[in-house]
Amino acid sequence: MSDFSLKNGVLHAESVSLLELATTYGTPLYVYSRAAIERQWRAFAEYLPEPHRVCFAVKANSNLAVLQVLARLGAGFDVVSGGEIARVLKAGGQAQRIVFSGVAKSDTEVREALQLGIGQFNVESRSELEQINRIALELGVVAAISLRVNPDVDAQTHPYIATGLEQNKFGIAMAEAVASYEQAAQLPGLNIVGVACHIGSQLTQIQPFLDAMDRMLDLIEQLAGKGIQVQHLDMGGGLGVRYGKEAPPPVSDYIQALLHKLSTRKRQSLALYLEPGRAIVANAGVLLTRVELLKSNKIKHFVMVDAGMNDLLRPSLYQAWHDIVNVQPRQGCSIQGDIVGPVCETGDFLGQNRSLVVQPGDLLAVMSAGAYGFTMSSNYNSRPRPAEVMVDRSDTYLIRARETREDLWRGESLIP
Ligand code: LLP
Repeated sequence: MSDFSLKNGVLHAESVSLLELATTYGTPLYVYSRAAIERQWRAFAEYLPEPHRVCFAVKANSNLAVLQVLARLGAGFDVVSGGEIARVLKAGGQAQRIVFSGVAKSDTEVREALQLGIGQFNVESRSELEQINRIALELGVVAAISLRVNPDVDAQTHPYIATGLEQNKFGIAMAEAVASYEQAAQLPGLNIVGVACHIGSQLTQIQPFLDAMDRMLDLIEQLAGKGIQVQHLDMGGGLGVRYGKEAPPPVSDYIQALLHKLSTRKRQSLALYLEPGRAIVANAGVLLTRVELLKSNKIKHFVMVDAGMNDLLRPSLYQAWHDIVNVQPRQGCSIQGDIVGPVCETGDFLGQNRSLVVQPGDLLAVMSAGAYGFTMSSNYNSRPRPAEVMVDRSDTYLIRARETREDLWRGESLIP
């Protein structure tokens, strides 16, 4: 994470001191580096010129300014709701470059997406084919579609973020894929443009992607035999990042391996679509949190901080490991203990069994928090959600104000 580095003994985001940011904007605070986002984006885009396409998975980080930075670089976007479509458009993204995924799209979302002229739908069931066809015919338009097929490949990742196994709810089973495409080909409101899959998230090996790709290319051959041609293969997102000891492949190796597979299978004319989320933003963000108190019992030490599972859910939900560092590292005796938040849940921790030299009032940075951090935050325990700032060299922009007390009950009312 070279965009977050120590300068004069203080952790900085680009040229800005995180101590100063915490003083100005308070804590908990999400801080993103624009340079880091742009660099990661370019790592993908450089290897995938048109007609290939990179669609940022908006669920990883949907702040308008983050989307704006990517839209300005010509990004496509992978979305899973009407809300995400609205964010992309508000941030300056083009409707034509949106891929709409998701297992259960509502009629309203499908109608809105068609009216806005989004690029295409990734369809996850045969009933959704009927749904989109019906609404497209009502509106007098033709919907571009790919079917998301489940290649039944083990992504070797946490079970909650593995999506490509037959037991997962996502996509259409491979055994049903050809029949589903034949059904789609009969529906006048649909135009088949591609084949899609997404096998899981935080993958640290290339092989499962290549195995999935082989199955998808077999399917494309079978479809061609039935007279159904597709223009692109969407391999979803899923490339992992380094949170700690993981060693995921560099973006360039991953893309080159996929492109190499296309050429060995003599399918160079297919456009490759990717939907990376985490790999673009995870290491472009940190969560700053202040140490409130220290406490020990007979068996354990606790470092109590002002950010909790409502601000960053990943450690509680997936036992995910994020590095946690003192923004101004100290000399002295380290404490071995759990870094816990103020939420009334035993599962409310940011890290367990960590070794830190720390005192009350210190500022800690939870690293690699740019993906699935703020987007998974909530108001549990009536805690206002954190502010978000973006650093651009020596400039800082407040890109989301800290929520206020009034925000907590916005839309609620007392009864007479
Ligand atoms: N495309 C589709 C269809 C997806 O379902 C996902 C993620 C992506 C792309 C982006 O995957 P990525 O490149 O970010 O791995 N909350 C979890 C991750 C859930 C991912 C869900 N789908 C976490 O914090 O680890």
